[in-house]
Amino acid sequence: EKGGYDHFMLKEIYEQPRAILDTYRGRLRADQGIVKMAGIDEHLEKFMNANRVIIVACGTSWHAGLVAEYIFEDLARIPVEVEYASEFRYRNPVITDKDVLIAISQSGETADTLAAIKLAKDKGAFVFGVCNVVGSSIARETHAGAYTHAGPEIGVASTKAFTTQITVLTLIALKLAKEKGEVSESNFHQFLTELETIPSKVEKALESNPLVEIISDVYKDSTNCLYLGRGYNFPVALEGALKLKEISYIHAEGYPAAEMKHGPIALIDDQMPVFVIATKKGHYEKVVSNIQEIKSRKGKIIAIVTEGDEQVTELADHVIEVPETYESLTPLLTTIPLQLLSYHIAVMRGCNVDQPRNLAKSVTVE
Ligand code: F6R
Repeated sequence: EKGGYDHFMLKEIYEQPRAILDTYRGRLRADQGIVKMAGIDEHLEKFMNANRVIIVACGTSWHAGLVAEYIFEDLARIPVEVEYASEFRYRNPVITDKDVLIAISQSGETADTLAAIKLAKDKGAFVFGVCNVVGSSIARETHAGAYTHAGPEIGVASTKAFTTQITVLTLIALKLAKEKGEVSESNFHQFLTELETIPSKVEKALESNPLVEIISDVYKDSTNCLYLGRGYNFPVALEGALKLKEISYIHAEGYPAAEMKHGPIALIDDQMPVFVIATKKGHYEKVVSNIQEIKSRKGKIIAIVTEGDEQVTELADHVIEVPETYESLTPLLTTIPLQLLSYHIAVMRGCNVDQPRNLAKSVTVE
């Protein structure tokens, strides 16, 4: 059932090229220059007339929501707010019938997310679900939606659900960008073509596994880790830290790289591994200077870089390469080595990777 892998988590990490393909298969027609999504097509005016999009989710799904915020605003020029479902539901939020709420949930059963949906519906918002589990409570409670088609995710730590959520949300953003006239025909076409290269680029990113295992062995006994990223890769830093915390029980924090000097930099010494997402484009030069700041305080730098990188490679203690792609698609690649890293560290520490302590796959109580 684990398909030859030691754990479901590793199997699911390796399923990502396939899962991402399954997510856009039948929806993305690069040759015809169209994105087909029934849930959007049938309610297009709701999205076109929306004052804003509110995304609600928990945990890893909330991180996918943060990536989506960058994509929606950047490509489709629609204002987006991303909320923890648990905070949103109890905050007496301002919601109107001009709002579109997107709920993201792998299981489709998360109690807080479900409650946030009911609240938004009561206030007249249009509610769209991005779920993995077909026929789940959230899928049934929403007005419309799009499934991720990642296949069953058994490991408690979410992996392929995350990358397929980002894929679906990217398709939606692109579709809306096209409808709103925010992208030219040729840019739209190029974007779709690039999206089609992602499964093979994820495959390539997975080839870092032996190197990631070596790096994991170096840092497996750390008691604290920092994860830094900017822009599209800030949420990836949060996600990398969450993965490490939940399965290896090492304290980790994710930060937008520029926030470091507002506090966390005080933590850095020669015992502190700092994982930095430093892909080309996306404020590369600024990340380089953040890396220099860490280095001058003797922090250990493990950087995720674009293939062929030279500048960061010279500064970092270890680099892990991922293929080049559009900046907005980099989270789909930079996430991969961070998933592998948390996996190997957890295995090396003798942790129960697929069923970490105190956690449940479906959080049906608040
Ligand atoms: C982390 C993880 C959790 C879930 C969260 C939301 O690896 O799995 O943080 O992402 O409990 O679950 P869903 O997406 O099922 O609503």
